[in-house]
Amino acid sequence: MKVLLIGSGGREHALAWKLAQSPRLTKLFAAPGNPGIGQHADLVKLDPADHEAVIRFCLAEEIDLVVVGPEVPLVEGLADDLSAARIPVFGPSKAAAQLEGSKAYTKELCATYDIPTARHRTFVEPDGAKAYIRQQGAPIVVKADGLAAGKGVVVAMNVAEAEAAVDMMFEGGLGAAGANIVVEEFMTGEEVSYFCLVDGETVLPFGSAQDHKRAFDGDEGPNTGGMGAYSPAPVFTPELEKRALEEIVRPTARAMSILGNPFRGVLYAGLMLTSEGPKLVEYNVRFGDPECQVLMLRLKSDLLEILKATADGTLGAVQAEWADDPAITVVFASKGYPGLFEKGSVIGGLDVAGAVEGVEVFQAGTRSDGDNILSWGGRVLNVTANGRNLAEARARAYTALDLIDWPEGFCRRDIGWRALNG
Ligand code: AMP
Ligand code: GLY
Repeated sequence: MKVLLIGSGGREHALAWKLAQSPRLTKLFAAPGNPGIGQHADLVKLDPADHEAVIRFCLAEEIDLVVVGPEVPLVEGLADDLSAARIPVFGPSKAAAQLEGSKAYTKELCATYDIPTARHRTFVEPDGAKAYIRQQGAPIVVKADGLAAGKGVVVAMNVAEAEAAVDMMFEGGLGAAGANIVVEEFMTGEEVSYFCLVDGETVLPFGSAQDHKRAFDGDEGPNTGGMGAYSPAPVFTPELEKRALEEIVRPTARAMSILGNPFRGVLYAGLMLTSEGPKLVEYNVRFGDPECQVLMLRLKSDLLEILKATADGTLGAVQAEWADDPAITVVFASKGYPGLFEKGSVIGGLDVAGAVEGVEVFQAGTRSDGDNILSWGGRVLNVTANGRNLAEARARAYTALDLIDWPEGFCRRDIGWRALNG
């Protein structure tokens, strides 16, 4: 099979690494990719926003499957356009991608189909939102409806902070994403990332992970895209997984089919494990980054076969097998991230780090310059390892990270603390 992978981050490097192991793969292309992905794929200068160009390429190269990594092309309808051209695609339609693209859509769906989530109201103007906030009191959560690159959620500890968030969003602080806002109940508990493949009605559970959103050790500092993850999440017991599957994911897949927007792709449920059971924080319509990196290290089955079955609607015919060994990933980020940071510093020692037992170094924000690999983003490397237990996996990951010569980078030193101390 000839495959085109869309994306350029650490998530896509992990997908490329795993796809490259498939005996069914004859050729892998990636657009736009990065130097790490380039170890497994031919990099193509295609703009994923130019759907016509992507289709032309797929027809010319006789691509059998397009795998879409990030959410933006999905929310912009890339899967619809590929499907219309009869090109198989892993990733949901524009209508189904609203599960990530519109928080108001998802909250409405949860209310209609009785899916456990935080109580909420949607607002199109500030006065009603503020009155509701004053009536509910704090802590309370204010969310922009649309995609806001991780900046659309304000967990407000007091009413003034929540009202300021309302003003910021309605004054255009997040662009069109803040034209509608959702105000919702503050939930407490541990957060889990739960992944399921869905081909319409069939749901294949695809592993759990825990992310670390804050920039610094001890869960301090600003929110990021994620500074590290491990899989599985021990706190997500088989009983809790069963509840999440039966009460949240399956009803969502069923609802999307009933609404005429069947979901095809990976449904990533961000869950809060509350005292009343698992509740939905949000949906994403793509793999988590960096959660995907640890899932790929644990997956024993042929990823290509599974993704193709999802695209073809034959998910019922495949299974996913997982290694017992847990996996962990530590994000090596540019100093200053998630704020301002410099690009273009040289990274050394990637080969020695990658040679540590059980370790894969995935590249996220890099660029090549002759023989050099340069930093070219906020999150630059994902040092990923497995082990007989999480402590061993973690020791391997930090051993490898410390072999990388990149003074301009920083990482958290406590990835996995909840699972290791708990
Ligand atoms: P999101 O961008 O939707 O992933 O939200 C970012 C983070 O905000 C989540 O990972 C949670 O830690 C937090 N969050 C979102 N909604 C709630 C909520 N209703 N209660 C408590 N925390 C929340
Ligand atoms: N790691 C969180 C996300 O991918 O959204």
